[in-house]
Amino acid sequence: MRAVDLIARKRGGERHSPDEVRWLIGAYLDGGVPDYQMAAWLMAVCWRGLDAAETRALTLALAGSGRRLSFAGSPVPVVDKHSTGGVGDKTTLVLAPMLAAAGVAVAKMSGRGLGHTGGTIDKLEAIPGVQATADPDAFVAAVRAHRLAIASQSAELAPGDGRLYALRDVTATVESIPLIASSVMSKKIATGAQVIVLDVKAGSGAFTKDVAAARELAGAMVALGRDVGLPTVAVISSMAEPLGRAVGNALEVQEALDTLSGRGPADVLDLCLALGSEALVAAGVAPALQPARQRLEDTLRQGAALEQLLGLVGSLGGDAAGLLRPGGLPTAPFILGVPAPRTGYLASIDALVCGQVSTGLGAGRTTKESLIDPAVGLVLGAKTGDLVEQGTPLVTLHARHPLAVDSEPVGTLLTAFHWSDQPVTPVPLILETLR
Ligand code: URA
Repeated sequence: MRAVDLIARKRGGERHSPDEVRWLIGAYLDGGVPDYQMAAWLMAVCWRGLDAAETRALTLALAGSGRRLSFAGSPVPVVDKHSTGGVGDKTTLVLAPMLAAAGVAVAKMSGRGLGHTGGTIDKLEAIPGVQATADPDAFVAAVRAHRLAIASQSAELAPGDGRLYALRDVTATVESIPLIASSVMSKKIATGAQVIVLDVKAGSGAFTKDVAAARELAGAMVALGRDVGLPTVAVISSMAEPLGRAVGNALEVQEALDTLSGRGPADVLDLCLALGSEALVAAGVAPALQPARQRLEDTLRQGAALEQLLGLVGSLGGDAAGLLRPGGLPTAPFILGVPAPRTGYLASIDALVCGQVSTGLGAGRTTKESLIDPAVGLVLGAKTGDLVEQGTPLVTLHARHPLAVDSEPVGTLLTAFHWSDQPVTPVPLILETLR
């Protein structure tokens, strides 16, 4: 087989056999196919796509490129949860402890955030003392011992995806549904999950900007899960506005703690209950969505989910007891309340702009090497549909350096808010579910 022939055939819109895909990935990872040929093939895939059999072969080749963890013999099903990334998305910090308290185990490896979307590991590491491990043996041991482990993505798992992703990142070939689906699912398969629940975001702050694109990505990942025998369910959720009110690492941890304590924003809780009940049913530990939801709500009422999160924080080196005390999280030295410039109903709040402003304050990375500031970010004082009076708090900025109301970040942030004189019905949070 020759790479140049496979590139030409994909350029012409032909299909590869699974053997050809396996050969290409194997030869690339062994050094027999150079970056420039792989980049050309990736670009051909961006234009011509991959069918289900090709996507499956690619996924399995990537999943098999390194270590594969196994939770065989686990007394309870092991669930993995993945979000395609959004603004203010602290779902994992709430949902994973709820699931662990509700009778399944959660094994989640997570990337760090890049760009305007935050990463779960950055949020966890905003807690003083916490260091998320990337050691797969410690990860497996933690799942078995505590039924809950969140670790940074190990380079030992699906290393082929790491190499391919780095190449895609610099050759404008990230944006391809089969390439994204195989990248995400190869890591899930290598992590050893037995059930996968996916939160596929749609909206301005998401990778997939509209429901049609989100549906295509969700469908590809659910089909892949089914093809490899892993129960997989995808919830398409709106990322038209930030999830919850807090955007920024420590601010989001606080909001997750509030949600686990029964005082969080309704949308964060609703999304966690929707994803969680799907996961419990897919795992076979609840007979239907309604009892599954009830079980998850009980974990909040009884404090069991909060206990799980505190246990996780302690196991990662953090001061779990201190976390619940005032000052348990880093705080920014400058806090600026931005008043509403007018009276009206909030028609929409652009999640992308909120994420960009928060990143500009230091909450996110602009390059892989950037250091993030755990304390900074913003907190929305109102959400879509709310009636806001001129001069009342619209949003609060938490900054490392002094900021004025007429500064550039505030001006940019105000462009995120769209107003209406008439009452507004917000877009539903849960848009679709694919099983
Ligand atoms: N996240 C991944 O893990 N892979 C992609 O290709 C895109 C987003």
